[in-house]
Amino acid sequence: MTLPEEPYGEKRLCEKLKTKWAGRVLSFYEEIDSTNVRAKQEAEDGAEHGTVVVADHQTAGRGRCGRTWNSPSAKNLYFTLILRPSILVEQASMLTLVMAIAVAKGMEKTVTAAATMGGESEMPTRCQIKWPNDIVVNGRKICGILTELSIVEQQIDYVLVGVGINVKKQEFSAELVDKASTLEEACGFVIDRSDLLANVLAEFEEMYVSFTQSGNLKFLRKAYDEMLVNRGREVCVLDPKGEFRGMALGISDTGELLVKRENGSVEAVYAGEVSVRGIYGYV
Ligand code: BTN
Repeated sequence: MTLPEEPYGEKRLCEKLKTKWAGRVLSFYEEIDSTNVRAKQEAEDGAEHGTVVVADHQTAGRGRCGRTWNSPSAKNLYFTLILRPSILVEQASMLTLVMAIAVAKGMEKTVTAAATMGGESEMPTRCQIKWPNDIVVNGRKICGILTELSIVEQQIDYVLVGVGINVKKQEFSAELVDKASTLEEACGFVIDRSDLLANVLAEFEEMYVSFTQSGNLKFLRKAYDEMLVNRGREVCVLDPKGEFRGMALGISDTGELLVKRENGSVEAVYAGEVSVRGIYGYV
């Protein structure tokens, strides 16, 4: 049986929004190089705080550490949120963790609603976070986040938070096939990308207020740690200054990963160019 095509576009995305400011200015592209690239142009042209750029297909989707982000059409959610926060440059990386938890909660909310529509009462899918910003379900990556900053005279001009969520079933390259998955495969329900965006932005907007008021992540540390797939596991920290192993304990109030080394010392690992791997595989 072929499923009816999901209506997708600017009108549908705007109808679903529940936010006050996030996504209230929204542009949609059938095909674009990268929503982060387009959002950068819009931000340079003065786009307001909360503007969102969405695409159905990216021809040059960008990932962390100079990697590409596979972005086929009619399958996934690709968007970039433009922010103009009054925070210090060194606080900006925490926005990625705020978005990670917003995505995890937004996904769970969307899946729960889809399950209820399908007559199921149990929450079938548990989203977890692989520090700092990969969302994983059943040990496979479903979402990545790429945050980019523009700094003028040592102050933040704007922040771009780009999010790619794998939604519909698709073929993955040999390199990704064992570590990537999609939300529909994980939960078994049809997921509407417009509902998903609306839920993620609503979660983000709520937490953004607490974050900008406090300037730290104390308010979500417990929730983040509960979702942290690495917690209590041995990890390998791939730091360009030298790799090391240790036990991941959770995050600090400012979003670093706390890793206990064999000698008992606890390192606070700052995201930057550092990656963390499970010692037996991706998580
Ligand atoms: C990662 O490497 O895990 C981050 C991937 C981020 C991909 C998203 S898709 C929407 C936005 N536009 C891009 O070009 N990249 C981000």
